[in-house]
Amino acid sequence: MTPLTSGTASALSGRLRAPGDKSVSHRALILGALAVGRTRVSGLLEGEDVLRTAAAMGALGAGIERNGEGRWTIDGIGLGGLTEPQDVLDLGNSGTGARLLMGLVASHPITTFLTGDASLRRRPMARVAAPLERIGARIIARDGVRMPLAVIGASSPLPIAYRLPVASAQVKSAVLLAGLNAPGETSVIEPQPTRDHSERMLRHFGAAVSITEEPDGARRITLKGQPELKAADLAVPGDPSSAAFPAVAALLLPGSQVVIEGVGVNPLRTGLYDTLAAMGAEIHFGNARVAAGEPVADLTLRAGALSGVEVPAERAPRMIDEYPILAVAAAFARGRTVMHGLGELRVKESDRLGAIAQGLAACGVSVEVAGDTLAVDGEGGPPPGGATIATKLDHRIAMAFLVLGMAARRPVRIDDGDTIATSFPGFVAAMNGLGAAIAPAQP
Ligand code: S3P
Repeated sequence: MTPLTSGTASALSGRLRAPGDKSVSHRALILGALAVGRTRVSGLLEGEDVLRTAAAMGALGAGIERNGEGRWTIDGIGLGGLTEPQDVLDLGNSGTGARLLMGLVASHPITTFLTGDASLRRRPMARVAAPLERIGARIIARDGVRMPLAVIGASSPLPIAYRLPVASAQVKSAVLLAGLNAPGETSVIEPQPTRDHSERMLRHFGAAVSITEEPDGARRITLKGQPELKAADLAVPGDPSSAAFPAVAALLLPGSQVVIEGVGVNPLRTGLYDTLAAMGAEIHFGNARVAAGEPVADLTLRAGALSGVEVPAERAPRMIDEYPILAVAAAFARGRTVMHGLGELRVKESDRLGAIAQGLAACGVSVEVAGDTLAVDGEGGPPPGGATIATKLDHRIAMAFLVLGMAARRPVRIDDGDTIATSFPGFVAAMNGLGAAIAPAQP
C-alpha cells in the first residue's frame, strides 16, 4: 500500500495521451489469440488488469510477446485450439478479464480454475455462470457464485439466445465469446445498449455479427458460430474512462487548458462528456478519425463554472465507470446533481456508491444516497477536502479523490495509490506533468 496526497495544483496546461482503452485491450488479446496468424497490437494498455489477461491467454496456449511500449504480437492458436491451463488463472482486480475468460473457456472441452484479488473474489459471477450453463458448461464456485471457481467447458456447446437481466457488456461479451465455438447462431438481447467493443472487434477479426431491433426496442446481437477468425493488426484507442480524470481536473482548476490526444469516443462510452457539457463544460472534440473500427478524437478542455444537472438512469450504461469522477465534478458545481440508476455501482471493484458517498462526506461535501440514486450538492467552488480516503482496492475511487484534492481547499490523502496501476499506470506522473501536486504520503 502506497498512500498518496494530492495538494493544491496550479492551473493545468499541456497535452497528454490517454492510456490504451482497457476494454479494447482485453478484447484484442483474447480475439487475437483465437485468430489464425499473427496480430500486431499498438497502444495496448499495460495496466495490471490487461497484463493478467495476457498471461491467461498465454496459459491457454497463445503466443503473446511484448515488443516495446504498448506494442505486442499475438500468435493465435485458432478457434477451438485452447489448451487446458496447468495452473489457476489469477485475474487480479479485473472483472472484465474474469468474466470474458469464463465465457471463452466455457465452450472448450477443458477445465479452467480462475481466481482474483480480494475485490474480485467478492464480485458476483452468477450473472455469467447462468448463461454459460445453458451453453453446456458447468461452473463450480464458492457460495454465492464467487471466485475462486472452476469452469468445466462444454464438449458440445449449444448456441443460445440470451436476454440480459442486467445492463452488462461483460455478460454480453462472455456469451458472445462462448458462442464463437458453438455451431449455429448465438444471440444476446440487450434492453439497454452497453459498450459494443466486442461486436466491433469480432467483425474486425472476420466474424459475422448482425445487429437488429426487437419489437420492444431492445438490441439483438447475433453471432454466427465457428467463424474463421483471421489475424488483423489493430491500434487501441485511448481510454475515455481514464481520460476522464485529467479532463475533469482541467475543468475544475481555474485557468487550465489541457489537450488529451487519441481518446476513444465510441458513443456508448461518452455519457460523461455529454453530462459535463450539459453542466456547462467547454469540451472540444477535434481531429476525428477511426482506429480498428472505433471512433477516436483529441479532446480540448478549458476550465469554467459548472452547474448541477439531473443524470437519467438510461445514460448509466454509457458512463458506468465515470460516476466517481462525475460526483467529484458535481461537488464543485453550483447546485444539485442527481444521478439515477446506479445499482450496478454496488458491485464494481468496490461498493462504489458507498465509497463515493463516504469519501465526499469526509471531504465536507453534502451528499445523499437514496436507493440507487446519488445526489451531490455543490456550492459552485472548491469543497473543504482535507480527508483521508479508503480506496478499497478501487482504482477509480483512488484517482477521483486525488483529482478532488487538486482543486479542494485542503489536500486529500488516499490510503493506497498502488491500485491505480490496474488501469492507468503513470497516472501520477502524467497529472504532475500537467501541474498537479501528487506525492507519496506518510503511511
Ligand atoms: C466493461 C464493462 C463494464 C465496465 C467495466 C468494463 C467491459 O462492466 O464497468 O469497467 O469491458 O466490458 P459491466 O459489464 O459489469 O457493466
